[in-house]
Amino acid sequence: MRIGVLTGGGDCPGLNAVIRAIVRTSSHDLGHEIVGFRDGWRGPLDGASEALTLDSTRGILPRGGTILGSSRTNPFRSDDGPERVQRTLSEQQIDGLIVIGGEDTLGVANRLSERGVPVVGVPKTIDNDLGGTDMTFGFDTAVQVATDALDRLHTTAESHNRTIVVEVMGRHAGWIALHAGLAGGADGILIPEQPFGLEEVVEVVERRHRHGRYFSLIVVAEGAVPREGEMATAGADTDQFGHARLGGIGLQLERALEQRTGYETRAIVLGHLQRGGTPTAFDRVLATRLGHAAVLGADAGRWGTMSALRSTHIELVDLGESVRELRRVRPEDLEVASALLGRAEG
Ligand code: F6P
Repeated sequence: MRIGVLTGGGDCPGLNAVIRAIVRTSSHDLGHEIVGFRDGWRGPLDGASEALTLDSTRGILPRGGTILGSSRTNPFRSDDGPERVQRTLSEQQIDGLIVIGGEDTLGVANRLSERGVPVVGVPKTIDNDLGGTDMTFGFDTAVQVATDALDRLHTTAESHNRTIVVEVMGRHAGWIALHAGLAGGADGILIPEQPFGLEEVVEVVERRHRHGRYFSLIVVAEGAVPREGEMATAGADTDQFGHARLGGIGLQLERALEQRTGYETRAIVLGHLQRGGTPTAFDRVLATRLGHAAVLGADAGRWGTMSALRSTHIELVDLGESVRELRRVRPEDLEVASALLGRAEG
């Protein structure tokens, strides 16, 4: 078989580990050829591809990013996009495609699968919000980066008696904010799932001051929103999938908190730092297992599925599950945080 592979959407630590596992499993055990398509869905649209071999994928396990490049190209944006993808697959004699992506990239894969294109998905996003899988690779690395940042910000915040607002990624879900906030001992965690009240954040900072704790760390997910009418938020441009470019809530909070509390407040946006660089050991292993299972799925003709982590096992689940419903933080996930946060004596 000739199997195509692409990586789409925002890059994510562990993508190269998936690619490597796909190539190794195919070459060692199954005798399949692997063709890498460039820059997400742009590759199949434009016919841009390269052979992936044991040699060309050597040494990539610890490397961040993706050797195939990535983009947010959406083939369904143009009328002939899906046909162009199908034409490329038939011209390059591709028997099936392994698509490594998040909600948008896998959403396209799912629509193409419904049109008869043989596809197996691999779930990817640092945001950890895809349905159908208990966890995505890249998340653990992002949480580690954000936690390291919080540890560093902790000491400088304390030395200068400042409030520091740390904006982390998380468009629809607050997993990174929640986990990094817990691991880094934040005083407040604001997530997209629960609109926050500015007055409550002010109270966290002021209560700490009343107890002689003159610094605070507030973690805010980029997609967090204040309760209606409580703070101004900026508008933004959208990408090919209609998503607004986020970022800015941290700075807005900085101003609002400083104004309301009178205490010096600084914001920092961790941004793409959370996505770059080498994956943690956990992400390397998860990515490798998911890539391995995806090739076995393709080999068995299990098209229209996605490799997924279910509890501690890797399974092939219906591809549609990845996009049916995003996996968001539930009230019960917040219980530990609610018990520990914003305690002045902490
Ligand atoms: O990968 C998901 C994500 O990290 C979101 O949290 C964030 O909004 C988005 O990517 C930003 O990506 P880019 O700047 O590449 O569009």
